Amino acid sequence: MAVSELENLDHIVSLAKARGFVFQSSEIYGGLGATYDYGPLGVELKRNIRDFWWKSMTRRHSNIVGVDAAIFMHPDVWKASGHVDGFNDPMIDDKQSNKRYRADMIIEGEIAKLRGKDKQDEANELQQKLDTAGSRNGLCEDLHTIIMDHEIRAPESGAFEWTDVRQFNLMFKTQFGATSSGEDDDGVYLRPETAQGIFVNFKNVMDTARQQIPFGIAQVGKAFRNEVVARQFVFRMREFEQMEMQYFVEPGTDGEAYDEWLEERFEWHKELGIRPAKLRHQDHPEDKLAHYAEAAADIQYEFPIGWQEVEGIHNRTDFDLSQHAKHSGKKLEFYDQQQQKRYTPYVIETSIGLDRAVLMVLCDAYREEEVDGDTRTVLKINPKLAPTKIGIFPLIKKDKLQDLAHKIEEDLRDDYKVLYDESGSIGKRYRRQDEAGTPFCITVDFDGVESEGEDTVTIRYRDDMTQDRVRVSKLRQVIEEKTKSWKPET
Ligand code: GAP
Repeated sequence: MAVSELENLDHIVSLAKARGFVFQSSEIYGGLGATYDYGPLGVELKRNIRDFWWKSMTRRHSNIVGVDAAIFMHPDVWKASGHVDGFNDPMIDDKQSNKRYRADMIIEGEIAKLRGKDKQDEANELQQKLDTAGSRNGLCEDLHTIIMDHEIRAPESGAFEWTDVRQFNLMFKTQFGATSSGEDDDGVYLRPETAQGIFVNFKNVMDTARQQIPFGIAQVGKAFRNEVVARQFVFRMREFEQMEMQYFVEPGTDGEAYDEWLEERFEWHKELGIRPAKLRHQDHPEDKLAHYAEAAADIQYEFPIGWQEVEGIHNRTDFDLSQHAKHSGKKLEFYDQQQQKRYTPYVIETSIGLDRAVLMVLCDAYREEEVDGDTRTVLKINPKLAPTKIGIFPLIKKDKLQDLAHKIEEDLRDDYKVLYDESGSIGKRYRRQDEAGTPFCITVDFDGVESEGEDTVTIRYRDDMTQDRVRVSKLRQVIEEKTKSWKPET
């Protein structure tokens, strides 16, 4: 059987829309850039991934507890964290088209173009200049000089009419309360990461959950970034969801904890059902580390747009707690009774974008297969994550078959997301569920209902399209066993 994988994101974008995974936000008004809505299947898939993460963080680790902090936080939080001064991207405008770009990405695009034309020496020279941008006259000026010296043109208009490069803060600001004007020293930000809600609750959680170092705090929630370049579907959005965990450790043990978390998180992606050959981790070079970080690595997936970060693991040292202690005037320390010493804990952070995880799962599961001269599009999603777990079909619309199908639906619906469907040919119903990633389809036919003794049904497996005849009382057992033993096809 000829099988092909995903060649570009367009296939996923159209399948996601056609099947109800993801829609453009406010679509009937023409859409809003880089914001998306999850449809009936998408919301289930997203919820399943979120639950999988939450369980593996908080249930498997008795020393990790959760919080759900507010999106609005005191404005000083973002001064302390460095986001007000430092959470910027360098941007440049094309005067002809009025389109805005990230200056570093314009240069990266040119490097890719040169490599495509096999001009490796020129590409290397440009890469070297990009790598050292900021070391000559400041980042903005250096990026501008590179673009002008190399006569890099705007990608869409082809014009060479650039503005200066300016820093652009990625945080959204809004009015807070009836008297706020939202001006510079007024108003609040929408959080650009969930992590700060954890840091400011460090003491509250330590005191109330009676945790000793090392311990962790996990949180899932929305984050907002006014991305200059926002494209590639749910990969880069202006409103997205993060699943973050901050692990507080004694200074000196941070290196070991960082290595352990990097390994554990990498294994988690495999457990999610992602093919190992499509996963890798990359250390951030020392000169590219964020100001607060002692070490950092990305867990990357090979998307159709190339290898891209899905999760970051960071050793954030004591930067955040020390900053919040300084700005709030509150002590954010741990007193170790055994060692009789007081210290500010170091933090190992694991931070994964939920929407990127959804996209990774969809991309990894997507296959087109030639079946009987036809193309079958199928999402081979891990059954644990599948939006609909079981399709239940009476072969035809006859009372006897419908009654048993409804009885099975009734029996399974509290434990599994099931879908009853009696419209169209059975082949069409299977194909619809293949595209939705439904791993099991149960069909009730006359052979099973009219058989001697207990009723039987057929269960059809999405991945290889084989079928078994199963007694109705054994359905749960078969589904559980098949779910447990499922492995991604390599
Ligand atoms: N607290 C650390 C932090 O926020 P980050 O690398 O900026 O680190 C962590 O973000 C993760 O959040 C990324 O690995 C990515 O999966 C996700 N993420 C970041 N920006 C995003 C965006 N604009 N759209 C979707 N996901 C995003």
